[in-house]
Amino acid sequence: MTTAEVVEASARYSEASTIPKSRYTSKEFLELEYKHLWSRVWQIAGREEEIRNPGDYLEYSIGDQSVVIVRGEDGRLRGFHNSCLHRGTQLCAGSGNLPGGLVCRFHGWRWGLDGSVREVPDAGDFAAQSVARDALRLPSVKVDTWGGFVFVNFDCESVPLLEFLDPIPSMLDKYAPEKMRYVRRRKTIMPANWKVALEAFSEAYHLTATHIQDLGGIRGGAPQTGFLTRPDEKNKRGATAGSFGIGYSVTDRHGFYSSTPEVVQSLLSRPLSSLGDPVEAKAAIVGHLTNQITQAFAHAVDLNYVQSMETVPLEESVGGFLNRVRREAAAEQGIHYDKLVDYDMLRNLVTVMFPNSSSTILAGNWIFFHFRPNGSDPDSSIFEVDFLHRFPDGEEPAVVQEFYPDWATHADWGITLEQDFANMPHIQRGLHSANGENVRLGRQEVAIRNLHRVLEQYIYGVGVDES
Ligand code: FES
Ligand SMILES: [Fe+2]
Repeated sequence: MTTAEVVEASARYSEASTIPKSRYTSKEFLELEYKHLWSRVWQIAGREEEIRNPGDYLEYSIGDQSVVIVRGEDGRLRGFHNSCLHRGTQLCAGSGNLPGGLVCRFHGWRWGLDGSVREVPDAGDFAAQSVARDALRLPSVKVDTWGGFVFVNFDCESVPLLEFLDPIPSMLDKYAPEKMRYVRRRKTIMPANWKVALEAFSEAYHLTATHIQDLGGIRGGAPQTGFLTRPDEKNKRGATAGSFGIGYSVTDRHGFYSSTPEVVQSLLSRPLSSLGDPVEAKAAIVGHLTNQITQAFAHAVDLNYVQSMETVPLEESVGGFLNRVRREAAAEQGIHYDKLVDYDMLRNLVTVMFPNSSSTILAGNWIFFHFRPNGSDPDSSIFEVDFLHRFPDGEEPAVVQEFYPDWATHADWGITLEQDFANMPHIQRGLHSANGENVRLGRQEVAIRNLHRVLEQYIYGVGVDES
């Protein structure tokens, strides 16, 4: 996609825009989504490293549908509807390895990893056509990979994955997303519609009101224990950071936002001496990195690298220093960010991937949020957050997915996520109010408008074939 096309897509949203509240609250709309969206769209089921070896499998479910993705003896990934062709029993749950192929727990029918039937006990007791080999091939779903993620699509007629994702791969491949590995995986049930949750991660308009402590990363200011001195500061025209510090764009399906080149340039021009004397400047950088590490934006090796320095060079720019720390700490581990220019390193690029994820990618880490409806309840959703990092080969940690049905019972989400989570029930309850039919969206919410534009194509069939 060319820049001109991105600009053109953004321009469609220069006029007033509203979205019916019922899209977030009605069971009928949720049913339409299951029928017309989730049955036809590429969606992330897991990571390749979860199913590295022949026989490895993982289950993915959306609504009342479940698929199992398995790695074959030939190394290929295949996806199958997760249901026995005898009397419908689910074949697999969770993840693991299937040394004997897929075996139904009920009566023991068995399939190979390629979906061909291997065993039907007492096959002679069935009509021949019921148990013909062709009739018993497990029905498949489409599976493909990008960036280390495994995607599935229930629609055999769908566009290819890379076409669907365009232009995300061309924008993100330089960060080597396929080399990232899980460092933490958490899942919870959110008391809000999946789009309410997703949309809270699809704009930076709420930064000032909800997350004042994060603005240091964007403004490049002085520390809160990070970089902020005047938390309620707006620019001279009264605009908040989400307006003057963030650039937004959308494409045919997806949305993007990040710090503007001007903000990054100011970080690259501002000397460390602006943070005080050498001791104060080092303390400010250490405080900033410590705060960033809790949110998985920075790495422990970055902090160790700075702490091992006797003093920080005051003449170096804040942005230049942070970049150098990130690059040199990684290089000591054999990881190189040569394809990333300074802007890539500092812009914190957020990708709102249609239909249901928002992720922030940086040098060597990727914070990935996924959202799904939770059964037939429009007021509830499944929220998953994956923190991904680059690790030296062979040093990837073993990571287990954590599940907290109520996020508030777990203490260690990090302040930013907790602030977002705390908003959720208020948003969802408010959407049920009889105070009007629509929500209204502004320029900073362009990715949300775009989400709904594409969603309408799926739900109402407007131009979906061309999209
Ligand atoms: S239901 Fe699967 S073997 Fe009977
Ligand atoms: Fe937020």
